[in-house]
This record gives sequence, C-alpha cells and structure tokens, in this order.
Amino acid sequence: MNKGPDGKNTSGRGQRDLTVRVKSARGRTASSTRWLQRQLNDPYVKRAQNEGYRGRAAFKIMEVDDKFRFLVPGARVVDLGCAPGGWIQVAVPRINALEEKKGKAVGTILGIDLQEVEPIPGATIHQLDFMDEGADEQVKEWLGGSADVVMSDMAASSSGHKQTDHLRIISLCEAAAYLAFDVLEEGGTFVSKVLAGGAEGELQKLLKQRFAKVANVKPPSSRADSSEKFVVASGFRG
Ligand SMILES: C[S@@+](CC[C@H](N)C(=O)[O-])C[C@H]1O[C@@H](n2cnc3c(N)ncnc32)[C@H](O)[C@@H]1O
Repeated sequence: MNKGPDGKNTSGRGQRDLTVRVKSARGRTASSTRWLQRQLNDPYVKRAQNEGYRGRAAFKIMEVDDKFRFLVPGARVVDLGCAPGGWIQVAVPRINALEEKKGKAVGTILGIDLQEVEPIPGATIHQLDFMDEGADEQVKEWLGGSADVVMSDMAASSSGHKQTDHLRIISLCEAAAYLAFDVLEEGGTFVSKVLAGGAEGELQKLLKQRFAKVANVKPPSSRADSSEKFVVASGFRG
C-alpha cells in the first residue's frame, strides 16, 4: 500500500484521466490560460496532489536520487530554494531525519528560501535571500558543521527573456556551488538545477575540478519543453 509524506494511504486515489479544458476568461492572458491548462492536465501535478507532496518538483529529486543515491540514512543535507518544500518531504524519510528507522543513522536537513515555508517535521527551515551579502556565512552558522549533500533548485521568477533567465539561474547555481565547496565533507555530493547552454560550460568546468564525477540528468518529471536539467557532482575532492 502506498503512503504519502503525510503518512496517509494514497493508493487508488485520482485514477481517472480526464483532460481539463480551460476557457479563456476576462483578465486572464493567453499565456496564463495556457499555463493553467498545462497545470491542470499535468500527471505529475495530479500525482503530487494525490500523494501529498507540496509540488511536482518532489518527483524530480526522487528520480535523481533513485539514480544516484545520495539521500541516505544519516546524511546532512542543505536544500537551497526549498519552498514550498517538496524536496524536503522526499529527503526527510530517505535520510531518516525523523528517526523512524531504528538502528539507522539519523540525518538532518536545513532548508533555505526567499519565501516563508510551512514547517516540515524533521527539517529546519529559514527564510533568506541566498544572494544577499553574507548569506553563505549565515547558512554555515545555521548548519554548524559540514554537510554530505548540498542541493539547489533555486530559480528566479521568469523574466520572459530566455538569455536573462539562463544567466540568472547559472549565477544561483554558482553561488550554491561555492557554498558546497566550503561545507561539503570529502566525498560529498552537489546537486543543482541548471538551464542547458551558454554560460553553463564554465560551471561544469569548475565542478569537474572539484568533484570526481559530474553527471547531467534530465529526470522524466522535468518538462520536455524546458531546457532545465540537473547537474549531479559526486565525490567532492575537498
Ligand atoms: C522551483 S522552486 C523550488 C521548489 C522546491 N525544490 C520544492 O520541491 O518545493 C525555486 C525556489 O527558489 C527560490 N529562490 C530563488 N532565488 C532565491 C534566492 N536568491 N535565495 C533563496 N531562494 C531563492 C524561490 O523562492 C523558489 O521557492
């Protein structure tokens, strides 16, 4: 029987597959009508609702971790850009942050976001702009030691200009990588969302110098029409 992160039975819920059509409404732009229609018909949005996850992003980290296995019992994790909390919901049971699996090491997770996040049992969450001066020092203070995993799903809201969005996401990813260099334990893992192309090459070069392996993955739940992918750098050299 399947259980969601809230512990409720999720089997058999929401099995019907009906395509929802959205009528254009006064005051709604064509692009927001398209967004709403896509959202209402997205199988991962439905799955997230049925299984109790706060967003479809939860499936991305689930799929990436199923392949690379870095969210292990006892892991100390930093999650940058964690709102509304889907990645944390996935990580808490995997790292055993609630001490549910007796005899297994107990993990910790520190989440950071610009936005306020509803508390999640087993996680410590702070509201902070990670691009503010001194933010990385603040995160290190909250962390109070080293980490095994630094993961980032940070993304600025879309400007509508592809190149600008690309540069913004790469600079968020770079800032996350520099925190990783400072706090990761030798052998640790860095996972970050990136947008393919352009400035991404420099970042990949930097990661290859500091990690034994750098892989790029596009999990099935990442929309095919988006240039989003995830870089997984493992075996931090220290
Ligand atoms: C795609 S969402 C993350 C979804 C999250 N992984 C989940 O599973 O719920 C991207 C997040 O990055 C956050 N973000 C963007 N820029 C940031 C910054 N400078 N500092 C902290 N968080 C930031 C946004 O507020 C947003 O909540």
